[in-house]
Amino acid sequence: MTSLISLRHLRLLPALLVLILALVGAQLDAAAPIADKHVKRRVELMATQKAALTTLADMMAGRIVFDASKAKAARRTLIKSTGDIRKRFKKPRMDPNSHARPLIWQQWRDFETRAARAKDAAKGLSAHTMNGLLRTVPNMMQACLSCHETYRDTPNDFITH
Ligand code: HEC
Repeated sequence: MTSLISLRHLRLLPALLVLILALVGAQLDAAAPIADKHVKRRVELMATQKAALTTLADMMAGRIVFDASKAKAARRTLIKSTGDIRKRFKKPRMDPNSHARPLIWQQWRDFETRAARAKDAAKGLSAHTMNGLLRTVPNMMQACLSCHETYRDTPNDFITH
């Protein structure tokens, strides 16, 4: 019985993930040019992670065929990129078109912790099988979203401020 319920959840998951992923990167397409090269590099880092995560979500949603070697490459990209977050944000740099909140540098310890948590989630990705992805990708996405919630401005903030 319990396995049936979780199976039903798993079926809904890919659609949900596609939706969440759209939210994670919604601002990227509309992004205005960024002049500061340090800010540019940290946004590029984020775009790299989004691309890797999109590959995994596309496999889960059946938009591309599951391919273990591609999935493993995406996992490696995510481990590397999440591992670089700390370094890319360490210096308090701002740009008019950046979505980073200054709170990052007021609560640097917490920001670091969330970056470390994202790296743990990337390491925890199981990319050998489709079931592994279904089991572990949500935790990865949760780590992205939880940091954005606190440290990244949403489009609405931009309209209303
Ligand atoms: C420790 C915090 C943190 C984590 C973890 C994190 N991000 Fe980000 N992300 C940010 C911040 C801050 C920005 C805004 C950077 C800027 O505009 O200067 C951002 C920006 C982005 C952007 C660009 C959108 C925009 O604002 O223009 C994308 C896409 C993105 N992140 C994807 C991801 C994905 C995918 C993950 C998970 C694999 C992730 N992020 C994990 C903090 C984080």
